[in-house]
Amino acid sequence: MDTHALIEKADQVITATYTRFPIVLVQGEGCTLRDERGRTYTDFVAGIAVCNLGHAHPGIARAIADQAQRLVHVSNLYYTRPQIALAEWLVEHSFADRVFFCNSGAEANEAAIKLARKYFKDRGAPERFRIITMEGSFHGRTMATLSATGQAKIHKGFEPLVDSFDIVPFNDLEAARNAITPETCAIMLEPIQGEGGVRCPAPGYLEGLRELCDREGILLVFDEVQTGMGRTGKLFAYEHFAMTPDIMTLAKALANGLPMGAMLAKEAVAASFTPGSHASTFGGTPLVATAALRVVKALVEEGVLQNCERVGQYFKDRLLDLKSKYACIQDVRGKGLLIGLALTCDGASIVKACMDEGFLINCTQEHILRFIPPLIVREAQVDALIVCLDSIFEKIA
Ligand SMILES: Cc1ncc(COP(=O)(O)O)c(C=O)c1O
Repeated sequence: MDTHALIEKADQVITATYTRFPIVLVQGEGCTLRDERGRTYTDFVAGIAVCNLGHAHPGIARAIADQAQRLVHVSNLYYTRPQIALAEWLVEHSFADRVFFCNSGAEANEAAIKLARKYFKDRGAPERFRIITMEGSFHGRTMATLSATGQAKIHKGFEPLVDSFDIVPFNDLEAARNAITPETCAIMLEPIQGEGGVRCPAPGYLEGLRELCDREGILLVFDEVQTGMGRTGKLFAYEHFAMTPDIMTLAKALANGLPMGAMLAKEAVAASFTPGSHASTFGGTPLVATAALRVVKALVEEGVLQNCERVGQYFKDRLLDLKSKYACIQDVRGKGLLIGLALTCDGASIVKACMDEGFLINCTQEHILRFIPPLIVREAQVDALIVCLDSIFEKIA
């Protein structure tokens, strides 16, 4: 079957939940992907902030292959070395004391929502079950996480929603304060909104939410599904701010493309998860935990965080050069290699034009170009994309 026939077949047999680009990808190496027709692309999407160490990382590939020949899966009724080692690593490198493993971002957030409720049930306050979330947020596609998500388009068609979430404007501390009632158990947010258009917190906002939660005796939950695992130049985005959350969720880049999610919490909170209160068949299985262990080792030992910070700043500076040339560029924002370029025009045609020139980029919220390449991307690859964008913007102007 050639590309055309494959796409025709896909459109008959796969649910139509994605508007896909008409290419069939077959192979990757580092920041490069190749399609069925033999065309190559520099990948500035990385599976949407998943393949932080690039494609076909030799160390990760070897670790997966070795582990696959030893033990892929056993029930969480038993202990396995990779899961223990990964949990230990995450605890040592974060604010948290305990880790619950699952398989996706939505599942990690479901776990966080359940834990926040259970924590207050255990303290004799079952009336505290509501969670304040943010406009423009994205927390997943399960019923609870889509209800938590502050975007009407994600709710559409699935009402009635889970009535547990009070959605307030992002970056508005006063709105969060005013939304707290005797029923509130937590505030949950992404420290930098990803799907919402790479929206960064205003100075003092996250610290203000921390103070607010402490004063009100409620929990602060950070959804670091997109911002975690080095994406912003630090292992976790909260490290950029003078505070820590009570619960943090991870997924996406945790195992560089194998499905893995995690929910981390401090001991006093995590203690509300007891045998039987939550579970996952595949969570933290030896194969994915082994891959994730290799990921975290690479993040700290292969200079990946430093590269992310340096190339991220370089990338933003080059985009600022473009902004000074083209009126349709409104804003350059983000941290590390989570970068947004806000446009006054539609972004989809620019994504398409970039693809035609051999660059995969992403657009969110119709007019925010989002750049989320592997964290190993080089300045020369950024330069090549900038040349491409420059010529596209020149044609538009
Ligand atoms: C911040 C955030 N939370 C949760 C999710 C959902 O993750 P998953 O698609 O793995 O369920 C995403 C996915 O884009 C995300 O960006």
